Amino acid sequence: MVFADLGDYLDTLRTKSMLRDVNVSVDPDLELTHILSEELRVGKKMTILFNKVRGSDIPAVGNIFSDWERMKMVLGDEPENIGNRLLGLVQVPSDTDSLISKGLQMMKELGGIKPKVSSSLGSSHTIMEKPELSRYPVCKTWPGDAGRFITLPVVVSRDPETGHRNVGMYRLQVFDDETLGMHWQIHKGGAEHYHDYLEKKKPMEVAVVLGTDPLTIFSAVAPLPNGLDEFSFAGLVSRKKMELAQGQTVDLQYPRNAEIVLEGIVDPTETRLEGPFGDHTGYYSLEEQFPVFHVKRVIEKKNPIYPTSIVGKLWHEDVIIGKAIERMFLPIIRFQVPEIIDMNTMEEAVFHNMVVVSIRKRYPGQAKKVMFALWGLGQLMFSKIIVVVDSDIDVHDRKQVIWAMSTRIDPQRDVFIVPGTVTDSLDHASQQFNYGSKMGIDATRKGQAEGFTRNWPEVMDVPEEIKDTVRKRWREYGL
Ligand SMILES: Cc1cc2nc3c(=O)[nH]c(=O)nc-3n(C[C@H](O)[C@H](O)[C@H](O)COP(=O)(O)O)c2cc1C
Repeated sequence: MVFADLGDYLDTLRTKSMLRDVNVSVDPDLELTHILSEELRVGKKMTILFNKVRGSDIPAVGNIFSDWERMKMVLGDEPENIGNRLLGLVQVPSDTDSLISKGLQMMKELGGIKPKVSSSLGSSHTIMEKPELSRYPVCKTWPGDAGRFITLPVVVSRDPETGHRNVGMYRLQVFDDETLGMHWQIHKGGAEHYHDYLEKKKPMEVAVVLGTDPLTIFSAVAPLPNGLDEFSFAGLVSRKKMELAQGQTVDLQYPRNAEIVLEGIVDPTETRLEGPFGDHTGYYSLEEQFPVFHVKRVIEKKNPIYPTSIVGKLWHEDVIIGKAIERMFLPIIRFQVPEIIDMNTMEEAVFHNMVVVSIRKRYPGQAKKVMFALWGLGQLMFSKIIVVVDSDIDVHDRKQVIWAMSTRIDPQRDVFIVPGTVTDSLDHASQQFNYGSKMGIDATRKGQAEGFTRNWPEVMDVPEEIKDTVRKRWREYGL
């Protein structure tokens, strides 16, 4: 199912009793976000539309992706099925007949890939007289936050050389009515473009969309390789071309169904302190220098809705987004690292801080080969700890994982540290900002070539016929 815009999604949730309206006045300063948080912790995980946010005439919506059911509605399928579909596009069959039917299938699949670009936003939207960010119900989530932060933006930029588009989700700190802190971390697509503009000493055009259909919001978070356009990705997932509007003051395109668009400029020579901000890790990300976004034009849909999200210590909707990404990209990761059976980016570890992978091990040293492959693969570069287990371990069963981690390793031989590597910008424990170390734990069974000269014992189990007998006679035992 493809939702026409954010309002269409919310209407659908309302008809399914998955949305609640809050019609009393709430404070965007700590109160609104704590309501969302409590609804996730002890409530029914409702999507909540706040119709009266103090200081603003614009409603705010939160908990858009608050459970798996909503995520499946947004994606139109199980994420892993979508991943398999995407993988199908790069796999070439060996015989001619299959090649022809594959070609036809691909034409169908690729129908949605190229977004349709038309004129600038017209009668459905209004150009505001001047930027006035204080009109929006932008929230402060945690008491130590430096101020109000836009937390669910879709940020569009263009590579100055190739013209390739990048769409990412990077929070924005509101400094005043027309100035925002742009928190694209150094490894991300937006930051890549920013550095190219810095080299060319040219101002960077940026468009920020606040509120669009939920699939496009999800696509901004998807860890696509640089150069692969997130709007095309959204079209691939939905099999429907995205409709884009031409920017008015910037040579960029963004979704026609945008609720609010901020067009403006990042001057690559200008930075300002951004943060602290209560982050996905459950800690405050400390203040650091980040680029500044100057808003030049604001375009609004009639009666726009402002989307927000909260992050913090478990459990928030970033958990659903993270799991959907893991499941969707697993088939493609398996294609690149074929011995991988399954993967669990652990939500308790803020996903990338601990990744468990099971492999079909055939040769010595294979666990390390897998770890290095993952550390070199897109945003898996942020994985602080990678644990590799054998194929008999279910990576989603913490008990099995801990059992393997504790019974199949000799720490001196099987735990190793990689110094001087990339770290996630949010990792406050690393030696330096963006730079630290990694840990690999090889919890697979070891062979002779790996220096293990003893006999590896068998895992204990009861014979199948005994299990069968006991199952059949269970009632007889009177238990
Ligand atoms: C709610 C939410 C907020 C996020 N905020 C940021 C942020 O402030 N900075 C950042 O670099 N990544 C942030 N991310 C993660 C990026 O959106 C994600 O890494 C994405 O793949 C980046 O896109 P890119 O690969 O095109 O750069 C956030 C993700 C979510 C779900």
